[in-house]
Amino acid sequence: MPIVAATKESIARAAEALARGVIVAFPTETIYGLGASALDASAVAKVFAAKDRPRFNPLIVHVLGLDEAESHAAVNDTARKLIRAFWPGPLSLVLPRKKACAIADLVSAGLDTIALRSPSHPVARALLEAAKLPIAAPSANRSGRISPTIAAHVEAELGDLPAMILDGGPCALGLESTVLGIDGDDVTLLRLGALPREEIKKVLGRKLASPEACSRVSSPGQLATHYAPLTPLRLDARSAKRGEALLAFGPQAPDFTGPTINLSQRGDLVEAAAKFFAALRTLDAAGVESIAVMPIPAHGLGEAINDRLKRAASPAALAVSAELP
Ligand code: TXA
Ligand code: MG
Repeated sequence: MPIVAATKESIARAAEALARGVIVAFPTETIYGLGASALDASAVAKVFAAKDRPRFNPLIVHVLGLDEAESHAAVNDTARKLIRAFWPGPLSLVLPRKKACAIADLVSAGLDTIALRSPSHPVARALLEAAKLPIAAPSANRSGRISPTIAAHVEAELGDLPAMILDGGPCALGLESTVLGIDGDDVTLLRLGALPREEIKKVLGRKLASPEACSRVSSPGQLATHYAPLTPLRLDARSAKRGEALLAFGPQAPDFTGPTINLSQRGDLVEAAAKFFAALRTLDAAGVESIAVMPIPAHGLGEAINDRLKRAASPAALAVSAELP
C-alpha cells in the first residue's frame, strides 16, 4: 500500500525518493499532487506516463517562496506584489524562465515560461524543505478525471504508480490553484481556481485580462501557449536529406552525418519524452532547412509526443480545427 501517514520520517523518505528520480504523491492546500523533481526530465516523464496524459501540458512547479522563484524565473514588480500578497497559497504565476533556469524543458512543455507556486500545506512545505528541490506536480489523478482531495482518491486513481502517497488528510480548499500569466504589467487569468478573481483585483487595483481577450484559443495549455520550433518539421521520415537535421527514435535509426538526436536508442518512450523538448530546441537552433522526424510509436507517451509533433508541423491547420466544436 503506497499510502503512508505524513510524518517527519516518511516525508524524509519521500524527499529522498524525489532526489532519486522517483515520483511521489503529496497533499497541498488545494488538491493532492503527483510530484517529481522538476530538475529531472526522466522523473517528469514518469508523471506524464502515470497520468496517461495524451498531451504534454506544462506543469506547475512548487517552490518555498520568492527567493527560490527568482532563481528560476524573472520576477517583475507586478509578480512580486502578487507573491507578497498571496504566497504561500493557491496562486500559480506563469513567468519568463531565466536563461540559467535548470528546470527540465518537459516541465514547461518547451515554452519559455514556467508556472510557479508556493503551497501553504505544512506537508508540502516540509517535503520541499527536505528535498531541497523544486517539485513539479500536476493533480494526482488520471488525465481527464477529477482532482483528488484525499489520499484514498489518489490510490484509487494511480494505485502504486507513485512510490508513496503521503497522507496529510483532506485538502482544505479542494480546488486547484488560480493560474495567472504575467507579461510585463499585463496579468491574464489563465485558470480560475481557489483564489478568487476579486481578491487579485484588489491587490492589483485593476481588472484582469481573460485569455479570450488575447487570443481566440482560450484554454491554457492549448495552442496559443504551445512551443513550436521555427524550423519546419518533416514527419514520418525514414531518412534525412542534406540540409536537414534528424530527430531519430529507436535502434533502427538511419545513418546520417548531419545534426542528429536519437530520442531513445533503445526505443523507450519515457526516455524519449524526457528528451523531446530539449531535442527540438537543439535541432531548431542548428540552422537547417527542416527537421526530419522518424515515426514515433503511438502508444503510451508516444501519443503525447505525436500530438506535439503534429501541432509543431502544422500550427495553422490545427488552430482552425481547434475552433470547431
Ligand atoms: O492546485 C494546483 O495548482 C495543483 C496542486 C498539486 O498544486 N497543481 C495543478 O497542476 O493543478 P497542473 O499541472 O494540473 O496544472 C497546470 C496548469 C494548467 O492549466 C497549465 O496549462 C497551466 O497550469 N500552466 C502551467 N505552466 C504554464 C505555462 N508555462 N504557460 C501557460 N500555462 C501554464
Ligand atoms: Mg489537473
